[in-house]
Amino acid sequence: MCGIIGYAGDENAVPIIVDGLKKLEYRGYDSAGIAVFGEGGFEVAKQKGRLAELEKRLESLPIAGRMGIGHTRWATHGEPSDINSHPHLGSGSKIAVVHNGIIENYKQLKERLEARGIPFASQTDSEVVAQLAEHYYEGDLLDTVIKTTNALEGSYALGLMCLAEPDVLVAVKKDNPLIVGVSEQGNFIASDVPAILKHTNRVYYLDDKEIAVLTKDSVKFYNTDKEPLAKEAETITWSVDSAEKGGYPHFMLKEIMEQPKVVRETIQSGINIDPLHITAFNKIVITACGSAYNAGVVSKYVFERLCRFRAIEVELASEFRYKDPCVDEKTLVILVSQSGETADTIAAMREAKAKGAVTLSIVNVVGSTLAKEADHTVYTAAGPEIAVATTKAFSTQLVVLYKLAVQFALELQKLTPEGAKALLEEIAAIPGKITELLNHVDDIQKYAASCIGYKSIFFIGRNIDYAIALEGSLKLKEISYIHSEAYAGGELKHGTISLVEDNTLVVALSCCQRLYPKILSNIEQVISRGAKVFLVSNVTQAEESDKLSLLKLPDIHELFSPSLSVIVLQLFSYYVAANKGLDIDKPRNLAKSVTVE
Ligand code: F6R
Repeated sequence: MCGIIGYAGDENAVPIIVDGLKKLEYRGYDSAGIAVFGEGGFEVAKQKGRLAELEKRLESLPIAGRMGIGHTRWATHGEPSDINSHPHLGSGSKIAVVHNGIIENYKQLKERLEARGIPFASQTDSEVVAQLAEHYYEGDLLDTVIKTTNALEGSYALGLMCLAEPDVLVAVKKDNPLIVGVSEQGNFIASDVPAILKHTNRVYYLDDKEIAVLTKDSVKFYNTDKEPLAKEAETITWSVDSAEKGGYPHFMLKEIMEQPKVVRETIQSGINIDPLHITAFNKIVITACGSAYNAGVVSKYVFERLCRFRAIEVELASEFRYKDPCVDEKTLVILVSQSGETADTIAAMREAKAKGAVTLSIVNVVGSTLAKEADHTVYTAAGPEIAVATTKAFSTQLVVLYKLAVQFALELQKLTPEGAKALLEEIAAIPGKITELLNHVDDIQKYAASCIGYKSIFFIGRNIDYAIALEGSLKLKEISYIHSEAYAGGELKHGTISLVEDNTLVVALSCCQRLYPKILSNIEQVISRGAKVFLVSNVTQAEESDKLSLLKLPDIHELFSPSLSVIVLQLFSYYVAANKGLDIDKPRNLAKSVTVE
């Protein structure tokens, strides 16, 4: 993970880099650092802890310069500490480097450099890049970067500065994202668009092994043979406000509230891909990680019910890639990802492609690896999602998957055009129903405030309610740190019910009218063992009792009900965490874009 940013321009780089790092903190937040080209050479500030700690340090020990690089870290090699923070300098302080990724052969390289008497300061894999670059440097930073990256194995997005070339900032990437932004006030590199959106919306997306050479007035691109490359800048349509909190206490709450808008925009932007001819496939595999995987689990119920398709599987991308999956040219592999940069999902896509499967990615970030490498891509229109816990991206993934299912069902002649039209109208009504539901924020907030003392919270549901229970449980545990598990209601009695006791809360989902009696008996089973129940349902018979609190959802087609239940589950988790006073946007140990295995 980790976030990097660099600036070469007319202004003081420090506030620009600090501000950019704030937008990248979702990528890692155990330490941060900046190096600028000051009057007398490199000036460096590195600090363990949140970015706020670095800011404090910069207040007491200011640094300044018109070119600089910055980093916010999610530790992989070496504990979070000042010394392990980036930027890393070579032992002669001639080269400064920020790195996102993992250098897999760092041990061998380090041993070779140490054998030549080069001392290392940190335990990181990244320092090897600075030391190696300094070792190779013979008067040209571009040549040095080519030589250095040729020696590296693993993944990297790098920003480098060199003491002997005070005007030049060089960037290169492999298997980790990096963009170059251009503006009248200077030029930028960054891991992600929000970091520089305030300054420019004109960006270049670097492909693997492409090198960018920036000065304050120019940006040039090269391949690793030092041949110049012609690249086209893209214009980002995200507004500057979309990467700001806009008065909300947390990005997560802002992003929850944005859902009617972004879900509507995603529905309206349609599925603009070449016809897939679903009839040519005999299997669909949906693969992803975390919440995106949960969106896949929800969609399996929708695909199965609407398409009556022979084989639909959902796989965790981290498992799929290593299981020698049974996929071939008759398999459609759907990759779901907000960032488009999740290492396991990218590896799953590459594995599927190598076996001849056709790949379709559903991605939020334009220009990301999954978007570029998949055979087909559908974009979600969630806009930048900054909170580590996904909310709006998940909701937009759901509606894309619903629409795909309807499209495939029509093509497979499992739906008539009228049937498909009716379902599409149901989908188009979802944003309005989310708005309706958001009127109940106060009820959910009040209820959540009474739940912070629970040691364990279970989520149960049947069928598609079970699928969305998985997401409710993940959301709760990641931001509130309360132990939580999701179970299919019928499974409880096969073991888990032994954990249900007085201090247990069970959140029950019930939007399948036909299965209401079944979930009700599960509810009775847990209540009789001391649990309290929070029922989220649109079933007409659902009612409150002294052990059961009810949140009524608007009426909706069973298959699309996860789009409403999830809003309640997100708000519930949010307010539990908020009442516990936790750092909701940056939960401990997590980072948003998981670019390592
Ligand atoms: C949970 C969450 C993660 C991501 C997962 C995949 O709230 O955000 O579980 O869903 O890391 O990330 P993307 O969608 O970027 O591939």
